[in-house]
Amino acid sequence: MSSAWSWFVILGTVLSLVGTLAFLLSNRSTSGQETTGHDYDGIQELDNPLPLWWVSMFIVSILFAGGYLIYYPGLGNFSGIGNWSSADQVAREQQAHEDRFAPLYARLAQLDEAELHADRQAQQVGRRLFINNCSTCHGVTGQGAFGFPNLTDDEWIWGKGFDKVKTALQNGRQAAMPGWAAALGDQGIDDVTQHVLQLAGSEHNPEAAARGASQYAMFCVACHGPEGSGNPILGAPNLANDIWLYGGSAEAIAFTLRHGRNGNMPSFARVLDPDQIHILAGYVTSLSLK
Ligand code: HEC
Ligand code: HEC
Repeated sequence: MSSAWSWFVILGTVLSLVGTLAFLLSNRSTSGQETTGHDYDGIQELDNPLPLWWVSMFIVSILFAGGYLIYYPGLGNFSGIGNWSSADQVAREQQAHEDRFAPLYARLAQLDEAELHADRQAQQVGRRLFINNCSTCHGVTGQGAFGFPNLTDDEWIWGKGFDKVKTALQNGRQAAMPGWAAALGDQGIDDVTQHVLQLAGSEHNPEAAARGASQYAMFCVACHGPEGSGNPILGAPNLANDIWLYGGSAEAIAFTLRHGRNGNMPSFARVLDPDQIHILAGYVTSLSLK
């Protein structure tokens, strides 16, 4: 802050404190009379003195403000005689956090997957990391939501296992399912939707599903496979079960086909260090075992 602004702030602050005090003292009832002397149609205004406890509290808080502004930064560029700064405090707290948790992380980073599952502290740290970083999308319990996969079941869009979870955290996951409205047309969307319902073992219209089969073979097999079992390398989900990322009703599937879907799991390589990713992968893989 330039020194002109600094003085502006200092004067503004000090004058308003002094002004408040002066205003308070000048308004104390000292006349000894019970009314202000105002009289409207026989209604008079009483002039009671402010209660002493109230006035004293006001004065004490003004004195406190003065002391505070001398000790802590608050008056323009004046840094206060206590030399306190929020940046120092954060640095001190971070250092304390580091000193406290570095040995713990170092120990947990040595454990393999099975040991991470069994270690109580690894589970606790993993759970905390999960709640802080993942729960906004995957839910506090990891059960997912529309568009965000459930991590507690045994269905893995991008493949199962500790290393796959680590890869997801390190690199993120970008799913690309194009929209098919132009290629299939309205009739085609309906037919292929019925075919997908058939693959999933859901209620469907057999004639429409049969019509959709040839279009499915032409447009969808490359990614989802002839039986709809999906492809973890591309992140193409299994369509032949009743687990849906974007809903399994005819309307939801038709919407997916028409517009495509591009689920995006962000990379955490810059947010979490390798030790944390290791511990978190142990926690996430343990969720589907419970
Ligand atoms: C901004 C939302 C978001 C956050 C935050 C997020 N994810 Fe994800 N995650 C997704 C989405 C969306 C997908 C699915 C991508 C797709 O469509 O294939 C996904 C996929 C995954 C997968 C692959 C699932 C599978 O079935 O193969 C794993 C594992 C995963 N996330 C773990 C995590 C963990 C652990 C965290 C916390 C560090 C996390 N995610 C944070 C959105 C998020
Ligand atoms: C280029 C590869 C590719 C092709 C071709 C493709 N898909 Fe997909 N499909 C994907 C991917 C990847 C996802 C996951 C999208 C996401 O996670 O956001 C997906 C998602 C879906 C879903 C949503 C599944 C769920 O769990 O909600 C359906 C339904 C689907 N595809 C059907 C089809 C049909 C039918 C065709 C052919 C018309 C097709 N896909 C063609 C890659 C493909």
